[in-house]
Amino acid sequence: MLSENMQKAINLQINAELYSSYLYAAMSMYFESVDMSGAAKWMNSQAQEELVHAAKFMNYVNEREGRVILDAIAKPPVEWKSVLDAFNGALEHERKVSSMINNLVTLAREENDHMTDNFLQWYVAEQVEEEVSAGEVVRKLRLIGDSGGGRFMIDNELGQRIFNPPVSSEE
Ligand SMILES: [Fe+2]
Ligand SMILES: [Fe+2]
Repeated sequence: MLSENMQKAINLQINAELYSSYLYAAMSMYFESVDMSGAAKWMNSQAQEELVHAAKFMNYVNEREGRVILDAIAKPPVEWKSVLDAFNGALEHERKVSSMINNLVTLAREENDHMTDNFLQWYVAEQVEEEVSAGEVVRKLRLIGDSGGGRFMIDNELGQRIFNPPVSSEE
């Protein structure tokens, strides 16, 4: 069974993953409002991926005979100054999530909870991917600057992203 402490910490993380989804959905809607449908699609895929992150945690708590408590999800921002501003926000957010995951690993180790430690390693690897993919877009946007042609190109490229739902319901 999960310790009370660990259960509380994972419940907080579930809320953070759901907030991530809400944040990326808000970014997606912002991109729609500035006619960047490719970037909107990219963020929509990201929003769906975050739901998978939350579901994976929920499933784990249940498997360990814990109890998932769903709390209120905070209101995300509505507007961003630019496309770069939004992707910068996404990168900053993922860095924050990475440190939350690191803290969970630390807690698992302090509690000698090897099962949770092992479970969390999937998220440790995933956070590398998250920071890399948001960081790549930020770098490209910086190179492009504010030119209309570059914006068009990157929007096209971001629109190629496809969300692949996990095959197993446990993921
Ligand atoms: Fe996540
Ligand atoms: Fe990811």
